[in-house]
Amino acid sequence: MRVAIVGATGAVGKELIKVLEEREFPLDELRLYASARSAGTTMTFRNQELTVELTPEGPIPADIVSASAGGGVSKKWARTWAGEGAVVVDNSSAWRYDPEVPLIIPEINPRAAKNHKGIIANPNCTTAILAVALWPLHRAFGAKNVVVSTYQATSGAGAEGMQELLDETRSFLDGKPVGHKVFQHPIPFNVIPHIDSFQDNDYTREEMKVVWETRKIFGESGMKISCTAVRIPTLRAHSEAATVIFERPVSPAAAREVLASAPGVEVVDEPARARYPMPLTATGKWNVEVGRIRQNLAFDNALDFFVSGDQLLKGAALNTVQIAELLV
Ligand SMILES: NC(=O)c1ccc[n+]([C@@H]2O[C@H](COP(=O)([O-])OP(=O)(O)OC[C@H]3O[C@@H](n4cnc5c(N)ncnc54)[C@H](OP(=O)(O)O)[C@@H]3O)[C@@H](O)[C@H]2O)c1
Repeated sequence: MRVAIVGATGAVGKELIKVLEEREFPLDELRLYASARSAGTTMTFRNQELTVELTPEGPIPADIVSASAGGGVSKKWARTWAGEGAVVVDNSSAWRYDPEVPLIIPEINPRAAKNHKGIIANPNCTTAILAVALWPLHRAFGAKNVVVSTYQATSGAGAEGMQELLDETRSFLDGKPVGHKVFQHPIPFNVIPHIDSFQDNDYTREEMKVVWETRKIFGESGMKISCTAVRIPTLRAHSEAATVIFERPVSPAAAREVLASAPGVEVVDEPARARYPMPLTATGKWNVEVGRIRQNLAFDNALDFFVSGDQLLKGAALNTVQIAELLV
């Protein structure tokens, strides 16, 4: 089993190397690729120094290629990389809406992975974190309408996003002017309701990704979903507040019971002990934390809940390795 990572030096790529190691993924060879900026540098995998290579403009000699170098690069090269039989598991949004490309969360639709034609898409990180908690509830009670607001970490915009939070916070505390490059506005001590580009319907593309992708993964083309996506000044792990109206009667106790045995989920819901999902506790975890589960006061058969999940793991690297495990 030969595995390659394109974008190995990025926020997702570095996590992928760690997850392959931690899950003891059965591989014989790992090759790391990036742009000319990082080609020639070294990274460590299983106590071995591996040299980062320049990404090929031709087939990649591997069985599985994890593509984590951005949508433009994937759109242009994924089919070529897969040319000699590799399966490309793509982390960008380049292929997710192609009807021929399966969009996979192994806890939800693992069987769809079999239908791949050389490319499998990994969902958007915000979608993945909501979906692992929503799916078991949907199966038990039938989710009809979903309204979600997100609280997204700066690392969702890559390694540069995280660095911008650190650098600009330091400037703020030193009394220097606070700038911004990755985000549309200064991020320290701010929240920015703008992630990705605005669409004709006044939602952002990030918000529509949650709608399009949840429907595709669940196989529920008519599910009514509305999202407000917001960037907040945290380093890592996305949180989301969800309100869901169900077809069948539901109670917080019944929901907790369903979630307690759901794969990929950890129920953290003891408000009296101040235990609920938070980015600081969700960071580094494979499971998505779910809590603040309560009966919604505005609608019948409806629940509110809060999730926090490490978007570099379940939203990217971990999900990729889980897909690779399915392929093995
Ligand atoms: N961050 C997240 O939470 C997250 C979650 C899910 C999905 N994703 C998606 O995963 C992808 C990677 O995101 P990231 O956050 O890891 O970004 P990042 O930290 O900016 O890293 C980008 C990586 O891509 C490489 N790269 C850039 N241009 C390249 C090119 N032309 N050819 C080959 N390699 C190139 C970079 O290499 P150099 O070191 O040479 O620059 C680096 O290794 C994106 O599509 C993103 O949307 C990100």
